[in-house]
Amino acid sequence: MIITSIYLLCAVLFILALRGLSAIRSASRGNTLAIIGISIAILATFAKFSFNTKTLLTLGVISVGSIIGYLIANKVKMKDLPQLIAAFHSLIGLVAVCTDATILARHSEIIEFSQKIEIALGVAIGAITFSGSLVAFLKLQGITKNSFIKHINVINIFMCITLLISILLFFVFTNILTFGTIILLATMFGYSMIIPIGGADMPVIVSMLNSYSGWATAGIGFTTNSQLLIITGALVGTSGAILSYIMCKGMNRKLTQVVLVGFQQNQHVVNSAHKTTENVKLCNTEDVSYMIENASSIVVVPGYGMAVAQAQHAVKDLIDKLFTRNVTVKFAIHPVAGRMPGHMNVLLAEANISDDYVYELDDINNEFSATDIVIVVGANDITNPSAKDDPTSPIYGMPILEVWKAKTVIVIKRSLNAGYAGIDNPLFYKPNTLMLLGDAKKVLNDIVKFL
Ligand code: TAP
Repeated sequence: MIITSIYLLCAVLFILALRGLSAIRSASRGNTLAIIGISIAILATFAKFSFNTKTLLTLGVISVGSIIGYLIANKVKMKDLPQLIAAFHSLIGLVAVCTDATILARHSEIIEFSQKIEIALGVAIGAITFSGSLVAFLKLQGITKNSFIKHINVINIFMCITLLISILLFFVFTNILTFGTIILLATMFGYSMIIPIGGADMPVIVSMLNSYSGWATAGIGFTTNSQLLIITGALVGTSGAILSYIMCKGMNRKLTQVVLVGFQQNQHVVNSAHKTTENVKLCNTEDVSYMIENASSIVVVPGYGMAVAQAQHAVKDLIDKLFTRNVTVKFAIHPVAGRMPGHMNVLLAEANISDDYVYELDDINNEFSATDIVIVVGANDITNPSAKDDPTSPIYGMPILEVWKAKTVIVIKRSLNAGYAGIDNPLFYKPNTLMLLGDAKKVLNDIVKFL
């Protein structure tokens, strides 16, 4: 009874943590609440058992895992977080598979039908999460490329049907063979589902796998009869699903489109290695400094390149200079800018840029036409006008920041290379666009010095 009440308290702490994580200002508090909740849950779980070699071994494993986790989290660069998250999701999938395998090995004779359902679904979701997340990690890390597999949708439907059949067989013949078949088919299904997905759709997939890892956790909760794991898994599963929905909405995509037509977009990929600067207007830091000095309103659009260059502090130095000259400065944040949800908000917060100046896409798009200068710092896809006016473009229909409506647009990046979606950006060739080529941090520092 006491332990159940403590678990309930932990569940409340997790809900409050999720609420805290939904806004930059309260994110740190949310994190702290989650850490407190998890610590209490672990202690309460240990209190249920008497102290023996097994508990000691478990404590040892948790300690080693915590140290490894701490070291990885301290070392990882912000831009590599998505692949780290994908890698961690794969471990959750593996845990679900191992837990179900242990339960089956111990109690195969006395398993009830309801438990068979829990085990079969838990292990299938776990194995899909494991292989799918592993593939997502390898792709985001650049180790594996998108692969074109002919008739992939037909293959996936076939895999799904055979997986369902193997689950039904497991209900009838509950043994290691049917159990192993589920693991094998689900692992292959996870692989074939994620391998063709590329371009701008990966963020949605990472968040979808996040949701799966939650359901896999809930599955472990059912099999081990742990209410806390069921609640926690359901929270992660639901929030991951909601995040996938929000991101699909941000990109004007349907989840079915993301999963079913993944690779087709690559036919639009440009060979940006051969692009020359002939048709664009180039400028230098001196030109930009003069223009900025005469502007009264400026909108900064940060993108993935700002994260790569670690230019957020240089951006802060620039806007501090602008504030002393009474220039109105705003930041425009696209929901999928960078490589993870909230990526830009985190970087701006790290540089102590108040979120009073930060505007979401819907709130800022109407303001570009009344803006003197837009400074695009390492952003590309999120400013691509093809999303509005080229029905053949793979990103057609995705809401974007309509920066070209401003009087002047200054794009800071190193070359004319494509962004994540691998497509050309007509913004670079617009008459009111000036390209300032170079590393974002260096270029911004030079402008600040000049000002
Ligand atoms: P991208 O379209 O990826 O463009 C980033 C640009 O930054 C590149 O074109 C690159 O051009 C430039 N860059 C790289 N290093 C730089 C440096 N040191 N200095 C200056 N510029 C640099 O980024 P975006 O506009 O932020 O759009 C995000 C894209 O990622 C979308 O397609 C989105 O769907 C996808 N995505 C998003 C997420 C989430 S959840 N946010 C997750 C995964 C993928 P150069 O090489 O020419 O410098």
